[in-house]
Amino acid sequence: METLSRTFWQRLTGSCATSIPANNEGWVYKEGTLNIDLTQLTELTQPGTALRFEGKDLPKRVLVVCGADGKYHAIHNKCTHMGRRLDFVPGTETVQCCSISKSTYTFDGKRIHGPRKVDVDSFPLSQEGNNLLIVVK
Ligand code: FES
Repeated sequence: METLSRTFWQRLTGSCATSIPANNEGWVYKEGTLNIDLTQLTELTQPGTALRFEGKDLPKRVLVVCGADGKYHAIHNKCTHMGRRLDFVPGTETVQCCSISKSTYTFDGKRIHGPRKVDVDSFPLSQEGNNLLIVVK
């Protein structure tokens, strides 16, 4: 299993590797849908990238990954073990908890490693032009 390179201290404190958007105006949550404007969040337009979305009125933290194939995935950014944030593991099709136990899930949320044998939710995602639309309830 591939693991993300993090220091012991980063894992102990649950410091995740994934950034929030540089331009927080490039997304909005409205009527149950997280709408991401890729023309404003260009850091998410390259394969092998990820951003985390939280705050505003979002009811759940969301990790959005642009996989190596350029396809987008949206995952509940909350490890099912103790709730810490997840990071995309480059070179894989997985996301991994930033904590010491490194719970690991597929892009669709299936648990493949970790102390708690529970999958994490993934969210329906569609793309309309330069906008990603993610249903989060
Ligand atoms: S909180 Fe994720 S493995 Fe413990």
